[in-house]
Amino acid sequence: MDSLKNFKRTTYCGTVRTENIGSEIAVCGWVQRQRDLGQLIFIDLRDRTGILQLAFDDATDRDIFKKAFTVRSEYVLAARGCVRERSSKNKEIPTGEVELEVTELRVLAASETPPFEIAPNSDVNDMLRLKYRYLDLRRPEMQRAIALRHQVVKAARDYFDENGFYEIETPMLTKSTPEGARDYLVPSRVHPGKFYALPQSPQQYKQLLMLSGFDRYFQIARCFRDEDLRADRQPEFTQIDMEMSFVDVDDVITVNEGFLKRVFKNILGIDIKTPILRMPYAEAMARYGSDKPDIRFGLELKDISDIAGGCGFKVFAEPVAAGGSVRLITVPGGAESFPRKQIDTLAEFVKTYGAKGLAWLRLGADGASSSFAKFMTEDEMSRIVARADAKTGDLVLIVADSNEKTVIASLGALRVECAKRLGLARKDDYKLLWVTEFPMFEYAEDEGRYVAMHHPFTAPMDEDIGKLESDKRNCRAKAYDIVLNGTELGGGSIRISTPEMQETMFRALGFTAEDAQARFGHLINAFRYGAPPHGGLAYGLDRLVMLLSGADSIRDVIAFPKVQNASEPMTSCPDIVDRKQLDELMLEVKTEE
Ligand code: AMO
Ligand code: AMP
Repeated sequence: MDSLKNFKRTTYCGTVRTENIGSEIAVCGWVQRQRDLGQLIFIDLRDRTGILQLAFDDATDRDIFKKAFTVRSEYVLAARGCVRERSSKNKEIPTGEVELEVTELRVLAASETPPFEIAPNSDVNDMLRLKYRYLDLRRPEMQRAIALRHQVVKAARDYFDENGFYEIETPMLTKSTPEGARDYLVPSRVHPGKFYALPQSPQQYKQLLMLSGFDRYFQIARCFRDEDLRADRQPEFTQIDMEMSFVDVDDVITVNEGFLKRVFKNILGIDIKTPILRMPYAEAMARYGSDKPDIRFGLELKDISDIAGGCGFKVFAEPVAAGGSVRLITVPGGAESFPRKQIDTLAEFVKTYGAKGLAWLRLGADGASSSFAKFMTEDEMSRIVARADAKTGDLVLIVADSNEKTVIASLGALRVECAKRLGLARKDDYKLLWVTEFPMFEYAEDEGRYVAMHHPFTAPMDEDIGKLESDKRNCRAKAYDIVLNGTELGGGSIRISTPEMQETMFRALGFTAEDAQARFGHLINAFRYGAPPHGGLAYGLDRLVMLLSGADSIRDVIAFPKVQNASEPMTSCPDIVDRKQLDELMLEVKTEE
């Protein structure tokens, strides 16, 4: 192998252009491929900026030519030479009009044949990719995504700094507190039998920083939640977390609209219009069947319970009588796009959301057909068509259920599914939305009690303070989410800042005063020493980068992500540890029989 001694890189491969013709440059990188045409050898050299063609021909020194002959894919090279115009140009790449006439070549490292080709979109099994993540990361899409991630973080640091926010670190080893997702625990050696928890978010610390008078805080914060993984969820993820004092909802929203404006401008060159549309939670659920509606397309939900309630069709009438509802969506042009067979697959789809069936009405050009018209009067049918605002060519899809949540959730998902199948939403159409006035509580069936929808530190809306204990169902919070194209990008709230209300909140959640003290005493007691009104928000950085880069999963924008079962194939963690380590921690592993 050659050494790098006295070799100084002057230029990144992907940046060389026709302006550089005639100048001597020095580049370093990996061999994308080597082509041996007998009298001619070409090497595509790759670094993080792109590819440059190295050329070796009759005029090349014979030792250099021989060395170029031995080079294989993924070898690491340093090359010096003169930039010249290519004889056959490649319009596909930015450096396609030039090449390097090599006068010095060093082989800095050899490479075994990689387990998969380092190429854009190469069709490789995901597990193999992640096992060799360091090679996968060499692919240009991954290089772009990770670079874009850096730019988003940089924009956040710049923006919040310019607006008077301090970046303050909060601990990674913290106290396990109930009321969130499952914690990742870290056993203490010094305190046998006791555990730290890794933070699910810096929530309580950032509130305490407001109490300490820092006024405006932000952090690029790593968070840990032991939840089931999905395309937009990782056990370990990053938040852009912020908090500010002496504010109400509008102030937090305004500062964050400035940040979103900055990010979209810097990263995509897009001017987003502010103020961003706001929609109360109740409206989002009624119109879109979701608290994170994708508003790039219509297909809004309509309630027909008033019409269906009195009809002769039991499937519709009974759920309404039982306190449920009947709702529909209208798919424009759906009579054409969704033939019978397709409707059956849509019916299967809504069943995965708990719906018991899907009634449909096709207004085909050749006449109407329907799964339920025979049970209805003509008047009822025409009222449904009018409510659906359906025209010839449209398809109306209806779900009835005694549980209203099922109707809303299944139709909400169905509208997204139909839009996906019809290609109604473009990836590069960015529609932001604030969802506001979230309910304070949601009923957890499995626990048989109300839990905080956002978190227990969120303040109720001023007009609903009285409902905290007496009317949990209708108590709304000063909580808001920022939604982008159907993904919850971030969420936050104005916080409770008096010990009395914080105690009331814990009581409402079913804590005894003692439990609340034991678990959250640090916060409740802190509020006794002068807490400013405060509030904030946290973005999921991974989700933001995923949407900005057009990736389908946050895995594609995290350098070393975990897979579905929360393991990491490259290092194969989690892993067993030595007996000695367990002994030091006074831990015993129970094995299941
Ligand atoms: P919340 O729990 O809504 O709020 O989280 C804020 C944002 O973090 C992202 N996020 C995740 N991203 C990837 N993987 C996960 N498992 C995951 N979980 C959440 C989402 C989400 O909108 N402390 C509060 C914020 C506040 O009130 O200021 C909090 O953590 O994009
Ligand atoms: P049936 O009388 O069971 O054949 O149902 C007639 C039509 O109503 C079929 O198209 C069913 O898919 C549909 N259907 C059944 N249950 C529901 C429901 N809960 N909501 C909407 N449509 C339903």
